[in-house]
Amino acid sequence: MSVSSILFVCLGNICRSPAADGVMRKKAEEAGLDIKIDSAGIGAWHVGQLPDARMRQCGRKRGYDFSHRARQVSAQDFEQFDIIMGMDSQNLHDLQKAAPTAEARSRIRLMADYLAAHKGQKSIPDPYYGDESDFEFALDLIEDASDEIIKLVKKGMI
Ligand code: 4NP
Repeated sequence: MSVSSILFVCLGNICRSPAADGVMRKKAEEAGLDIKIDSAGIGAWHVGQLPDARMRQCGRKRGYDFSHRARQVSAQDFEQFDIIMGMDSQNLHDLQKAAPTAEARSRIRLMADYLAAHKGQKSIPDPYYGDESDFEFALDLIEDASDEIIKLVKKGMI
């Protein structure tokens, strides 16, 4: 199966998943890969908001523009995206509960499973209650996994 769309999901959709969305969009464009990318949150607390200012600043320093508006994941997302990718085990658990069918459940993935330079790291940890170094680390992980995901999609291995 060749993947043509990926939805990134985290808890609030203001830190990790909009960053994954922005990083993947830029890297896919640079790689000439035509793929639909979006992000959403498990919770609805931040719906309509831009990403957290700390993540936007972190991204800006690396040449990204994180300008997604937060939204909550819906049952329709499981029809509209080939792959639904969570950031940590709690996201996976919540997505599994939200998936409308067993087939939809089978298309849920964990972003950390695609890490190459950070193999062994089991999740993209939530930086929300952390400091600048936690945001930088989350972005390091997101860039690492995104490079690997693009390679695998190009080879038809995802
Ligand atoms: P995210 O970070 O899941 O990476 O967007 C969070 C943002 C907000 C909250 C939790 C995590 N919150 O509890 O409001």
